Amino acid sequence: MRAKIVAGNWKMNKNIADSGVLLSELKEKLKETPEAKVIVAPTFTNLYYAFEELKGSDIDVAAQNMHQAESGAFTGEISADMLTSIGVTTVILGHSERRAYFGETDELLAEKVATALKHNMTIIFCFGEELEERKDNNHFAVVESQLKNALFSLDSSAWKQIVLAYEPVWAIGTGETATPEQAQEMHAFIRKTISEAYTAEVAEEVSILYGGSVKPANAKEIFAKPDVDGGLIGGASLDAESFAAIANSF
Ligand code: 13P
Repeated sequence: MRAKIVAGNWKMNKNIADSGVLLSELKEKLKETPEAKVIVAPTFTNLYYAFEELKGSDIDVAAQNMHQAESGAFTGEISADMLTSIGVTTVILGHSERRAYFGETDELLAEKVATALKHNMTIIFCFGEELEERKDNNHFAVVESQLKNALFSLDSSAWKQIVLAYEPVWAIGTGETATPEQAQEMHAFIRKTISEAYTAEVAEEVSILYGGSVKPANAKEIFAKPDVDGGLIGGASLDAESFAAIANSF
C-alpha cells in the first residue's frame, strides 16, 4: 500500500538555533508515531544538524533542492553526493518557487531527477498550475505536461523512489486552499495519467501529496480524500504544534 506522508518544507526560514528548538519540540510532540511518515526539509546549513538531531526518531530529513551535476565549478550549489554523504537521501525537486524565481524548467528538472535517482535518492517532485491557467481551464493540461516532461521518460522501476506533490501555485502561502474536492479531482487525474503512461500498478503505488495552505483546520478533510496521500506543508510546518496536528490528521 502506498505511504501516507506529511512533509514540512521550511523554505528559507529558521537559523540553527531556531531549528534546534523546532526539532526538539517536534520530537516531543511526535513521540506517538503518527500514521503518516513525517519528513522535515530544513535549509542546507541546518541539514546535517537536523539529521543528527533526528537520529533514532521516526522523522526523516529532506533537502529542498540540489544541483544536477556530480561536482565541479558551480559556485553556491550542492550535489547529490554531498547530501547522501551526510545521510540525507530525500530531496524536494521542482518546487514552484524554484521554477518561478530560479528559472527551473521541466528539462532541467528531468536532469536533476536523473541525478538524484543515480544516487538512489527519494524525490518529492513538485508541480502545479498557476491561477491564470486554472481560470483558463488549462490546469489539467499544464499538470500533465509538467509530469510528462520531467518524469515520463523514467523506467517504471524508478517510480518506487518518486513521491508527487501537487501544489497549485495560487494556493501556496496565500491562505487560499484548493477545496478537498479540487484536490481529489486533480489527484485522481494525476493517477489516471500515470496509469496511462505506465501501468495501473505504478499509479496505485505512488504517493501523491497536496501542498498549498494546509493548516490543522483543513488537513483532515483534505487527507480524507482517497487519492490524497498526505501533504507538503510550508508555513504551518514552522510551528511544532500546528505541524504535529497536521501529521496526526489521518
Ligand atoms: P504553504 O503551506 O505556506 O502554502 O506552502 C506550501 C508549499 O509551498 C510547500 O512546499
